[in-house]
Amino acid sequence: MNGTRLQSLPEIEAGLWRELARAPLDRHHEWRTPVLATVDGDAADARTVVLRETDRDARELRLFTDCRSAKVAQIARHPLGTLAMWSKRLSWQLRVRVQLQVHVEGLAVASRWARLKQSPAAQDYLSPLAPGSPLDGDMPGRPAPERGHFAMVTAQVLSVDWLELHAEGHRRAMFDAAGGRWLVP
Ligand SMILES: Cc1cc2nc3c(=O)[nH]c(=O)nc-3n(C[C@H](O)[C@H](O)[C@H](O)COP(=O)(O)O)c2cc1C
Repeated sequence: MNGTRLQSLPEIEAGLWRELARAPLDRHHEWRTPVLATVDGDAADARTVVLRETDRDARELRLFTDCRSAKVAQIARHPLGTLAMWSKRLSWQLRVRVQLQVHVEGLAVASRWARLKQSPAAQDYLSPLAPGSPLDGDMPGRPAPERGHFAMVTAQVLSVDWLELHAEGHRRAMFDAAGGRWLVP
């Protein structure tokens, strides 16, 4: 995509969704590890996550986490977040405003856990202590339930703020329920 710049708003919107769809499938894609920002009371919080799935038709991005993590409690209190990502290859930044939802049961969670539990990554969800617990005491942790502490986070895309850095002039556009429009970078 380097070299020829996409010109129209619909081309750019299709292009960014194409890249979002590729990211979970390509270990080297820079958008595979976006930063998820959430609201923690009256402060901001942010951390790197792995983008696991993109559903273009549903305009939904999916992440995996431990249901005891701080972000899960933050999402329960304030379900709006932002996924920020930068690609040097594309020279594109995305700031994706999302409505977040945590899922711990149901078919969608069970099918993903069934796949994950065969892999070493399953360990991430089987720790007896919650993420962020201090390691110094002998705090007895509860043994993990059958499905570990696995949770899927769905991020319904509300808007995408696209920024392209370019020697011939930066460009910025907003894509949301009202459609696409150019913004001053
Ligand atoms: C490259 C990278 C990928 C990560 N992927 C995830 C992930 O997919 N899910 C997750 O919950 N934490 C992931 N983490 C860890 C988080 O950044 C964070 O440290 C952890 O989830 C605790 O965050 P919290 O206390 O805000 O919930 C990742 C960290 C790095 C450095």
